[in-house]
Amino acid sequence: MIPYAEVIGDPIAHSKSPLIHGFWLDQLGIEGAYRRAHVRAADLHDYFAARRADPLWRGCNVTVPHKQAVLAHCDWIDPNAATIGAVNTIVPENGVLAGYNTDGIGFLEPLRPLLLRPHLFRMARILGAGGAARAIAHALAGEGFEPVILARTAEKARAFLDSLGISGGHAAALEMFAAPTDFAFDDRAGLLDLVVNTTPLGMAGQPPLHLDFSHVPPGSVVYDIVYAPLETPLLAEARARGLRTIDGLEMLIGQAAAAFARFFGAAAPREHDAALRVRLVA
Ligand code: ATR
Repeated sequence: MIPYAEVIGDPIAHSKSPLIHGFWLDQLGIEGAYRRAHVRAADLHDYFAARRADPLWRGCNVTVPHKQAVLAHCDWIDPNAATIGAVNTIVPENGVLAGYNTDGIGFLEPLRPLLLRPHLFRMARILGAGGAARAIAHALAGEGFEPVILARTAEKARAFLDSLGISGGHAAALEMFAAPTDFAFDDRAGLLDLVVNTTPLGMAGQPPLHLDFSHVPPGSVVYDIVYAPLETPLLAEARARGLRTIDGLEMLIGQAAAAFARFFGAAAPREHDAALRVRLVA
């Protein structure tokens, strides 16, 4: 009879969340548990009805394919989650179910030191226009980035920007970035350029990502949210070119940390990230 949180999805066996939250619970000596729960779409209603009545339940993370569907089961939705149109963290708060999206916070976390500095202009080239890209584009727009969205078609990229209420920004087809460009980047002093892969391309078992680095401005930070493999071909090439890189475990751990604080009322012990990362890639 100990307090617990869990992750719900269908399938759920692959989820790394129990490892991450379990690691932090152990480190902090908190008497609590974090489980996986296999919940099918048809069972969401019964799931939330049961958990609402369970005083030990501290909330849940939500993964594929329920991140949109669970909005209908929340009593209150955080405005950021509402704009993104997806919830990944649900917490009982004062008798109501509150829905949050911690993906954007997790994504921004490794960028924080950079974001503290002033820039004349911030531009983010975002590859992909799926669910993860929604949280990322919304978070980056909030940090003053001009987004360039690359989707399978330019129309899809434009619709993506419109649906997030991002005025401006640029939309183009992903394949445009596969071929070299002779665009001559100007002096990037005072600028912050980010290139983010949000597609599954480059992931083990998925097709490769074709990005010609002539589209990557000098001095860019290259961020891949794929974490298997940890060093994707995109990050390997960026590193070889001397660019700063951020891997997908950063966002995975960051979004979990924001959820953990809500579930268990304690900050995740991030001083142990190195050990946690070793476990996550084992
Ligand atoms: P998420 O979980 O973020 O929603 P996703 O839907 O698997 O992830 O894919 C994210 C993005 O990668 C999407 O923009 C997707 O394009 P579609 O929306 O057109 O499906 C893109 N993507 C996935 N596989 C791709 C491929 N083989 N080529 C190009 N883009 C791809």
